[in-house]
Amino acid sequence: MKVTIIGSGYVGLVTAVCFADLGHEVICIEKDDNKLNKLKNGIVPIYEPGLDDLLDKNRKENRIKFSNSIEEGVNFSNIIYLCVGTPQGEDGKADLSQVEEASRQIALYMKDYKLIVEKSTVPVNTHQWVKKTIKRYIKNKEIEFDVASNPEFLREGSALYDFMNPDRIVIGVESKKAENLLKELYKYFIDKNYKFLITTPAAAELIKHASNSFLAMKISYINMIAELCEKVGADINEVADGIGSDKRIGRAFLNAGIGYGGSCFPKDVKAFIKIAEEHGIDFGLLKETEKINKQRRLKFIEKIEEVLWISKDKNIAIWGLAFKPNTDDIREAPSIDVVKELYRLKANLFLYDPKAMENFKLLFPEKDNIHYKDDPYSAVEEADALLILTEWDEFININLEKIKAKMRLPIIIDGRNIYDKKKLLELGFEYYCIGR
Ligand SMILES: NC(=O)c1ccc[n+]([C@@H]2O[C@H](COP(=O)([O-])OP(=O)(O)OC[C@H]3O[C@@H](n4cnc5c(N)ncnc54)[C@H](O)[C@@H]3O)[C@@H](O)[C@H]2O)c1
Repeated sequence: MKVTIIGSGYVGLVTAVCFADLGHEVICIEKDDNKLNKLKNGIVPIYEPGLDDLLDKNRKENRIKFSNSIEEGVNFSNIIYLCVGTPQGEDGKADLSQVEEASRQIALYMKDYKLIVEKSTVPVNTHQWVKKTIKRYIKNKEIEFDVASNPEFLREGSALYDFMNPDRIVIGVESKKAENLLKELYKYFIDKNYKFLITTPAAAELIKHASNSFLAMKISYINMIAELCEKVGADINEVADGIGSDKRIGRAFLNAGIGYGGSCFPKDVKAFIKIAEEHGIDFGLLKETEKINKQRRLKFIEKIEEVLWISKDKNIAIWGLAFKPNTDDIREAPSIDVVKELYRLKANLFLYDPKAMENFKLLFPEKDNIHYKDDPYSAVEEADALLILTEWDEFININLEKIKAKMRLPIIIDGRNIYDKKKLLELGFEYYCIGR
């Protein structure tokens, strides 16, 4: 089939490349010239494991191309995916201006039937607005179209795997025609018996916000248990294993740490609270989830101060700037708040991340007391303390003896609980972590 993808960011590009690899013919529309030029030259503008090779393969086999012309995209196929950004607006509501703009642009060029599919995460009933916008701006009012919702559940860092091995595919449709088109598009997964849920568009839109909010809630829940563990002398990992062994609960998303960040959870939880509010519902549970999450960063900074007493003039190494491993995405990453505060406190910061440093430099350019290092070892040279903010494998598998030899003081404050506490103490580190 032919597919048009509007917006070639994390979700758009992964969706496009995976559809192409399944044998579909895909055009990606991207309005950011810088991104577009890279993509046209086969360069992936983000870090996502395996994406560059898969793009390369599908470009060579002529199944994927890039353009900035919505007109070309609309003429190319009758399935048009909206993968544009839905960032947080000023008041916490989702900013839907990119969805509105793309819908308007699509309408202007529609000459025959189109199925417009929301893959962006949008508030419930956004499909109604997309429909209304297209009806308003379409020139020939006789042309038929459908709007469907097909939310994306991929995780950055394992996006290709997640797209190709989904727990479920959800399509929210209002017509048999839309349903059949999407079934054909997803035939590979249906044939392989992946769970394929057909709902209304409103339910599909809700499923996405409700899923992300639930996962965020799980993280905040375990982080509160971790706080209690610290007070009573229990180990959060043992507690999480015990809780998570219950099939009704599950072990995933029960890792205590400095809280969630990223481009999705913070904004989606906020947006979901607002959506509920607009319908007269006070979603206190999620407000508390958000509050607990914000407190994690403050508590981590408090922990640093408790350990170091004064941060001023201390050499502090920071490993991990990305909001999670295997991505270069730093949107809403805890590292931003930690670096901001330690910079304010006049510490000397030595930062290292395997993939996210270029993005981080855009927020915190290299200057007097912010230094970027090429590897984890040079970051800890003469350090008074090492902070761990992202659980990259590179840090988990590091030679800790070598690290200790390079540091001025063997102090590790681990916001992600990546090490065995007993082993660290045996090696002679002062080791502070979360909930243990
Ligand atoms: N990043 C994730 O892990 C993830 C996972 C699931 C769902 N989502 C949702 O998917 C959506 C996209 O997220 P993302 O992380 O890919 O965002 P992103 O900002 O990386 O990408 C969006 C892209 O759309 C482009 N764009 C915007 N308007 C356009 C237009 N009119 N024409 C052409 N291009 C246009 C932008 O230039 C940008 O490159 C969001 O709603 C997000 O919540 C994201």
